[in-house]
Amino acid sequence: MYVLGIESSCDETAASIVKNDKTILSNVIYSQIKEHSAFGGIVPEIAARAHLEKIDVVVAKAFSDANLSINDIDAVAGTCGPGLIGGVIVGATFAKGISIASNIPFIAVNHIEAHALSVRITNDVEFPYLLLLISGGHCQSCIVHAVNKFEIIGRTLDDSIGEAFDKVAKLLGYGYPGGKLIENQSVLGNIKRFSFPKPMCSNNSLDFSFSGLKTAVKIAFEQSQKLQQDKDDICACFQATVTAIMKYKADAAIKHCKELGISVQTIVAAGGVAANTPIRQILQNLSSDYDMQFIAPPIDLCTDNAAMIAWNGIERLRLDLTNEIDFSPRPSWPLESSATENSKIIAPPIVKLYS
Ligand code: KG4
Ligand code: ZN
Repeated sequence: MYVLGIESSCDETAASIVKNDKTILSNVIYSQIKEHSAFGGIVPEIAARAHLEKIDVVVAKAFSDANLSINDIDAVAGTCGPGLIGGVIVGATFAKGISIASNIPFIAVNHIEAHALSVRITNDVEFPYLLLLISGGHCQSCIVHAVNKFEIIGRTLDDSIGEAFDKVAKLLGYGYPGGKLIENQSVLGNIKRFSFPKPMCSNNSLDFSFSGLKTAVKIAFEQSQKLQQDKDDICACFQATVTAIMKYKADAAIKHCKELGISVQTIVAAGGVAANTPIRQILQNLSSDYDMQFIAPPIDLCTDNAAMIAWNGIERLRLDLTNEIDFSPRPSWPLESSATENSKIIAPPIVKLYS
């Protein structure tokens, strides 16, 4: 069985064909970074237009790379949210068009669910597992009980962790996205120079907060001479603080599972920030302390991609969780509710504009 996945919820236009035996036959990503970098962040209108411009080329390349034709695929999965709605509509509508034209099932994929299950493409991870979903748009911890059953145990009260990386990078005058740049610069700095706060790291709190840390970084930078060494030291101290926060939150989440009597053997990190080496390392060490295993997808499956969307399609198809063609794309789509939204959404009544 082959499933085509289409992703367009943020600043990557992506298409991928994955086989049910987990072979990724193609994984095409067109990144819009250069369209947005001058603005220091993503401009939704530019993103939507760029998706529209590239989607057909990207999907065609996914077929040619996989050496398959449209007649070979068994289903099409498209991200239907959460995300920047203009872009989501482009990808979801394209996926629906293929579904109608080829008369194959359509699967409306929740982008967060796709990140959450992405680790199962490369590893045979059994449910339940403890997931740290750390990306540009999301920051939460949850217990993944099944393909479509998630128990959120911690969430951010303000920024996501990826946003914190990106905003610090912007402050320092680096480009967008900033996570990888900060990670690279951090090895050049003095880790002891600044003592940044670790918000909400007490009483085993499971929730995240990054705004206080962000403000502290801003003040430190403004009070410095703004030399390259100052920037490197800020990167080093910010990276060390964020790594320590992740260790604290993972530890609190493990304790929470133990208190609830939920037996989890595996900690999984997913989303763009799961590509961060110090964070991967600290979670690896923590897991060993608890005699658990730590798994994160390979770097190219951590950041946004369509292979995870196609894989989510395969996971849902196996459970017969397909969708009606009138499934509404949505800017916000909490993970907990994606489980129940696999059936037809009743369309609003058609309003007659002209008589
Ligand atoms: O999952 P993703 O590609 O998009 C969302 O769904 O949000 O995550 C993008 C985020 C950005 O904030 C980017 O700065 C961050 O992931 N990121 C990293 C690294 N690579 C990407 N953050 C820290 N270290 C990295 N190596
Ligand atoms: Zn993402």
